[in-house]
Parts: sequence; C-alpha cells; structure tokens
Amino acid sequence: MMIKPEPSGRFHMPGHKGRGDFPNLYELDITEIPGADNLHDAREIIDQVEKKLALIYQSDDSAILVNGSTVGLQSAILAVCQPGEQLLVGLNCHRSVFGALGLGHIKARFIKPDFDENLGFASGISLAAVKEALQAYPNAKGLVIVSPTYYGTVCQLAEIAKILHQKHKILIVDEAHGAQFSFAQGYPQSALKAGADLVIQSTHKVLGSLTQSAIIHGQGDLIDWQRVKMFLAVLQSSSPSYPLMISVEEATDRACQKGAEVFEMIKKEHQDFCRNQPDDAMISLYDPGDKPYDYSKWLFSTGSVNGCQVEKRLRDEFLIQCEMSDQNTILLMCGLETTAADLEKLTKAIRAINQDLDPGKKPERAEKRLEQINELMIKEELGEVMWSRQKIKISLEASANRVAADFIIPYPPGIPLLVPGSLITETLIKQIRKLCQAGVAMVGLDSDEKLLVLEDRI
Ligand SMILES: Cc1ncc(COP(=O)(O)O)c(C=O)c1O
Repeated sequence: MMIKPEPSGRFHMPGHKGRGDFPNLYELDITEIPGADNLHDAREIIDQVEKKLALIYQSDDSAILVNGSTVGLQSAILAVCQPGEQLLVGLNCHRSVFGALGLGHIKARFIKPDFDENLGFASGISLAAVKEALQAYPNAKGLVIVSPTYYGTVCQLAEIAKILHQKHKILIVDEAHGAQFSFAQGYPQSALKAGADLVIQSTHKVLGSLTQSAIIHGQGDLIDWQRVKMFLAVLQSSSPSYPLMISVEEATDRACQKGAEVFEMIKKEHQDFCRNQPDDAMISLYDPGDKPYDYSKWLFSTGSVNGCQVEKRLRDEFLIQCEMSDQNTILLMCGLETTAADLEKLTKAIRAINQDLDPGKKPERAEKRLEQINELMIKEELGEVMWSRQKIKISLEASANRVAADFIIPYPPGIPLLVPGSLITETLIKQIRKLCQAGVAMVGLDSDEKLLVLEDRI
C-alpha cells in the first residue's frame, strides 16, 4: 500500500501535509521495555510528556490517545454516565459519540443544532437550545457537543459551560478539529479556556501528529479523571504505538514554535480570499463575517455545480485533494504545515475553475445539504437497538417508516443521518439516494442498497 499525494496539494487531514520530519519509524517502534514507560500506568517519560501537555494546553490532566478522539470521546462519556443515566447530546455529533451512548446504555436526550441558512450545514448547538434541554431534562448528567464543527463554526462554549456548571452538570467538548486554538491568535477560544470539563482533541487533524493520535484533557472538580483513565485502559490497545505517542509531543512542540505565525497567515489568506471574490462567483468561499471561526477550514459553496465534480477537477487538473465534497460544497483543510504557496496554488485553481463556469447558473440559495438532522426522529433508545439481535436487512426502497438498526453515515464528515433507533422517513431515503448519486460514500448501506432495520417494528 503506497499512496503519496503531492504535499502542496494536500488540503485533507492530517495537518502535517506529508512534510513531517520524522526519524526512522522502525527505530522508534518499541514496546514497554525498561525506560519506555507504559501508557496505561504512566510514571516515567510518558507521564512527563502528559504533564507537559497539561501545562501547554492548560488542563489539570491530559492523556495521550492512540485511538484518536474516538476513544477519548467514548471514555469521557462512559466516565460521566452510568448505564441508564441521561446525557444531553448535540445531534450533529460524530459517530464515535453515538457509539459510546450505545455501548454504555446511556439515555441520549438529543439537542437539534442550528443550520447555516445558505449552505445548510449544522453550524452548532445554541445557548438557547441548551437552556431549553436543561429544563426539559433536569436529571441529565451533562452535555456533549462538537465545537468547532467539521465546517469551522463554533458554539458559545463559555456561556454554555457557565449555565451547566450552575447546575453541577459536566460539559464534554469534542474539539477534535480545534487543537490549534491554543496556539492561534484571532481564532476561537479553546474549549479548556472556555471552562469545559473534558476536552478531546485529534492532534492529527490540524496540528499534524500521526493519524490516530490525539489527546484528552480534564479540568475541575466535577469529573472523575481516574474513571476516564480506567475506560481508556479498557478501550485502547495494550500495545500502544510509540511513534503515535511521540508524534503528539512533536506536533505540540512544533505548534508552540510556529503555530501562531502559520495560523495567522492562514486566517489572513482566508479573509483576503473572501474580500476579493466576485459576488457572482460560482465557487465561493464561506465567509464567517465577524463571528469566531476556525479559518483552517476552507469551505466552498459550489453553487449549482456538483461539489464532487469540482473535487475531481481539483484533483485531476491541479493535483489538489479536498478533504470532503458533496453535491454543493467542497471542504479543504489547512494544517500546521500548510504554506502560503499552497494557498496561492489553491486560490489560482479555484479562480481558473470559476472562469470556466457560467455564473448566471448560480442559484440564489444553494440547495440544503442533506445532512438534515432535523429529520432524525428517535423511536427507540439507541443502546437497546444497538444490542438487539432482532435485525434484518432490507432494501432502502422498502425501509420507509421502519426503525433503523444501524448507523447510516455519509463519510466524511461522519455525522449520522440515521442512528440505531431512529425512524427512516421518505425524506431521509430521498436524501440518502441524492448523496449517493452525488458520489458521497455512505457507511451502513450495502452496495446493493440494503440496510439493517429492526425486525418487528414498522
Ligand atoms: C468532529 C469529529 N469528532 C471526532 C472524530 C473522531 O476523531 P478520530 O478520527 O481522531 O478518532 C472526528 C473524525 O473525523 C470528527 O470529525
């Protein structure tokens, strides 16, 4: 298996863009020999690195993860809730959150996100929605939300943390895409600074540690850090990879050295692009205006042109690889090793494609993206359905009004359209079809368009 995309065209994860200066992988690939410490009972070098990470990111405790933010989110959620307890959950969370809820038999009480009116993506959970959910579910142990979103928008974390803490509830923040906030000026405040209790960051996504490496941080008196560590030890490999662990420290050191400069450059390029783009450009960069935003995400509307086709053109004609595309957007991700020259190459490519396209065809308002979480209707507890044996496979066609028994997830971004226990509506079927036709990969749907549903529920 050998795929080597051009570094200057790598606008996808991980953040190192293939430019890392890593010593021989095999030399560093060791096990828990004397002097190498043990991730699951860190007392020596790993303990020192974790203490250093806590200092840099300003947490009380930090732990290196070798199974991505996925295992961090799972451990955080399992540490906060016992089986049967309630947790408030943003419906735009990543699949790893839903998986943890099911594994732990935790009763998710979902909160619908706001949507960006033009592009139709879920932009985050509002403070008002959290207040409402707290009133409706006073026994919930806390809240898990994603901020920044995959698209770069953020929630009002400081205000959300405050109202949760007034009621002694825990805030877990999936900051998988936001490890750079601790190093960047003019970007959103980090979740730890905003007061979140447990924060999970995929250092690989934007900073550029090796894929699969990540960090979980904890702070304050509301959490039981030992419980978090116990679940980490249960869920992670007993042979954690040293190259992965070392790369977390390396990426953090590099972010300390040059993060401020790189992310300032990326923000400036983003703002310049927005300022200079013609009003009638078919492919236009999402402009957050004055709102706090993660400028490492370059989200373009592709107007009436299929985003998957634009992605293909960028790849075939300009050697640029996007992070994601769908029928009316493309997402390009910058990282710690992105250079001004890379962004110039991208800017020129978008300009060239725009010149080929007829701006007259641009619709006033892009069709809503199909991540229509508003359609998600929970009929059964997620955990009950995940563990149930009463499941059958049927065609998507025949599945209307049945209860989904598995996740259906466009990938990327990994935000489910259906979760075990949710109702399959005609609208959702149409949406799933449209996404597939646009070329989006759909996890959970067979190549012959079959999916799992609960056997006895119609
Ligand atoms: C918002 C969000 N949270 C969590 C994850 C899981 O992170 P990881 O791939 O590091 O396990 C992802 C992965 O893409 C994500 O986009």
